[in-house]
Amino acid sequence: MPPRRYLDHPATSWPKPEPVIDGILHALRDVGAAAGRGIHADARRADAIRAGARAAAARIVGADDPHRVALVTGATLGLNVAIHGLVEPGWHVLATAADHNATLRPLQWLADRGMIEFDVVPCDATGRVDPDDVAKAWRPTTRMLVFSHASNVTGALQDAATLARIARERGGLSVLDASQTAGIVPLPSGASATDVVVAAGHKWLQGTEGAAVLFARAGVEPRALVQGGTGTASDDLRMPERFVDRLEAGTPDLGALAGLAAGIAWVERQGIGALADHGHRLGSACRQALATLPGVRLLGSGDAKGPPIVGFTVEGYDPADVAALLEQIAGVQARAGLHCAALIHRHLGTAGGGSVRLGFGPFNTPGDVRAVVAAVGEILGQPDSDFPDPFPIPTQVPPWQE
Ligand SMILES: Cc1ncc(COP(=O)(O)O)c(C=O)c1O
Repeated sequence: MPPRRYLDHPATSWPKPEPVIDGILHALRDVGAAAGRGIHADARRADAIRAGARAAAARIVGADDPHRVALVTGATLGLNVAIHGLVEPGWHVLATAADHNATLRPLQWLADRGMIEFDVVPCDATGRVDPDDVAKAWRPTTRMLVFSHASNVTGALQDAATLARIARERGGLSVLDASQTAGIVPLPSGASATDVVVAAGHKWLQGTEGAAVLFARAGVEPRALVQGGTGTASDDLRMPERFVDRLEAGTPDLGALAGLAAGIAWVERQGIGALADHGHRLGSACRQALATLPGVRLLGSGDAKGPPIVGFTVEGYDPADVAALLEQIAGVQARAGLHCAALIHRHLGTAGGGSVRLGFGPFNTPGDVRAVVAAVGEILGQPDSDFPDPFPIPTQVPPWQE
């Protein structure tokens, strides 16, 4: 079996940076307490871990007040809270064809029950949404626009600032799903910011599953979808009003919060720009080399501003078979299929079997790109000596890999 080459970062990042593992181990080994539930020494340590994660998440979403950031167990829950917790009966809501099912399914669920009306704004063949199409789809009853900052299938980045402005000027709310951008693309801030931001912690933020970020600006107040203990105002049978208490019922996953804080701090130390450059250097070399292979169809345009994702299909092959062969031949771990984002495939022309997706994370190397290209060549029956080396000159090793 060839050595493992992990290229599935848009699903979840791996390997995790050492400080993330250390942070999680510290929480598990050394802290005997549940955050927000006590005053003994370890309870204070647990509180400090949660406060550190909240502060780090606030920096990433550009929130001045960390108490407008709820730490939830996943982006899926965060998007459900944002959608179910904010919409009112009769609202018309817009989403985009480039969105993930974590957005589309809650909206469809509400629409199926006659609680809202919802329309999907199309994207182009790269996954990009034209802001003019959003403006055109806006109705007098439209009150919310939800959209993925970047497509998890092609990496295409949406013009979040313009989309947020369109919603604001029409008196609606904007909800940004930054799951594929937080940690690898700067999030819109200041006047360009959206009203709500949700981000997965285990992808480009380098944390683990179990912790995600839900920010809402002051005055945007989602109802609590989950009611329960908060460790505060326990004599009241109603959920506390305070944003983070209202949205964080139940004992938090302390290890995941420690990992999120360490992951964000690690990303900040390396620099989002440096991490993005590294990923795109590999991603664009991969695209260029794959483009030379007859039968390979690249998806998207290789948006250098989005996350470093390379999507493709191989003529005559089911994407699932391509992914299986990539692993068999070269140890390459890639994702195949619809990637929980069915609608975009209609626009990409990949609605049947979907696509193969590669994502280039901090620890990938030029060797991974060569392995992918050689393996795809082998699938197509071409000897690898025919391929131009995508890295003909000696390449730099990024500092975090040294
Ligand atoms: C764009 C996007 N939104 C939301 C999600 C949901 O994240 P999670 O499964 O971690 O809740 C994902 C994860 O695949 C995603 O790619």
